[in-house]
Amino acid sequence: MSLFLKAAWGEFTERAPLWMMRQAGRYLPEYMALKERYTFWEMCRTPEVAAEVTLQPLRRFELDAAILFSDIMTPLAPMGFQIDFNPGPVFANPARTAADVEQVRVPAAEEIATFVMETLRILRGELKEETALIGFGGAPLTLATYAVEGKGSKDYALFRQFLRREPSLAHALLEKLTEVTIRYLRAQVEAGAQAIQLFDSWAGLHDEVIYRRFGLPYALRVFDALTDLDVPRIYIAVGASHLSGAINELPCEVMSLDWRMPIPAAREAFGTRCLQGNLDPAVLLGTTSEIEVEALRILREGLDGAHIFNLGHGMMKEAPVEHVAHLVNVVRGFDRARALEMRPSVRGGGASGLQRGRWI
Ligand code: CP3
Repeated sequence: MSLFLKAAWGEFTERAPLWMMRQAGRYLPEYMALKERYTFWEMCRTPEVAAEVTLQPLRRFELDAAILFSDIMTPLAPMGFQIDFNPGPVFANPARTAADVEQVRVPAAEEIATFVMETLRILRGELKEETALIGFGGAPLTLATYAVEGKGSKDYALFRQFLRREPSLAHALLEKLTEVTIRYLRAQVEAGAQAIQLFDSWAGLHDEVIYRRFGLPYALRVFDALTDLDVPRIYIAVGASHLSGAINELPCEVMSLDWRMPIPAAREAFGTRCLQGNLDPAVLLGTTSEIEVEALRILREGLDGAHIFNLGHGMMKEAPVEHVAHLVNVVRGFDRARALEMRPSVRGGGASGLQRGRWI
């Protein structure tokens, strides 16, 4: 089993597997070169191109996982939404009234995004066996945020007003998004995705009452519907430390942390689950010595359990490629078994949490 999958299932790994959110994208000159020829949607919808973009970062860096090149908006197009990217998503027909929500389609699995399934099949054929292939989708609450607001926003006033004034319409929309997300993610696994990450980028906007009403139950249903597929399920909610009690109720194997949630606090909140994260993406904009200091701090904090190294959110387009290469070297060079041995005993002995290769 690949290092990434081992860690995701909660096993000890001698090295922390590494991938980076938005590892494909605008910080790579080879991505910018392709963007001269294709629009973002064309890149996503042409399997050979989407597979090529997925592989670009893996040609440069030794990474333990590839993530499908696509967007969380992909399944919303066959639901009837007209979406452009500039660079974030902009909807021509957001869903705000009862008639709008009524019109939203719930396509069959085969109608959702055949090009994504084809991209995954190409990728599984191209990737080395030790490189895991990650599929993904947006959590229903985050998809609804864009579907109602129609674009990115500072405070999402329209969407938050919609939740409070039209709760039954909100639930009707979330139901449809949940059903489509389940069909879409199951199809990804059948096409070769070995793990699924659910992005809840805007969960942190809300207090716990709203999150428990409109976020948690739908994300939970998505994860529940993937149980029989036997792939690790990863959840990331951005800016959501205040929701960790509720989030801990989700049936997922990996909790991905943004950079503001300290790993020790996450261990307390999420128990023995694998943690993924959580270097501040802005660290890559600083100096190489600071990259080393911060990466090593996170690697040491991760020693108390299974850990997948990642950024705390997507790669910034300003990140210098040499800095990313430096980060990859630091993370790959960190020997976890040795670091555990060398660690001064905190709670009565460095490796006391590790028994027969599993964290307890
Ligand atoms: O390498 C990877 O991580 C895989 C590809 C990927 C993209 N989007 C490609 C993309 C993934 C996993 C996403 C998820 C996504 N998309 C999220 C969840 C993660 C997060 O950032 O919280 C969200 C909220 C979106 C919606 C979206 N798409 C936004 C807000 C933007 C613009 C902002 C930005 O960073 O550029 C996009 C466009 C987008 N999606 C780009 C890429 C590479 C940039 C398009 C371009 O080339 O101009």
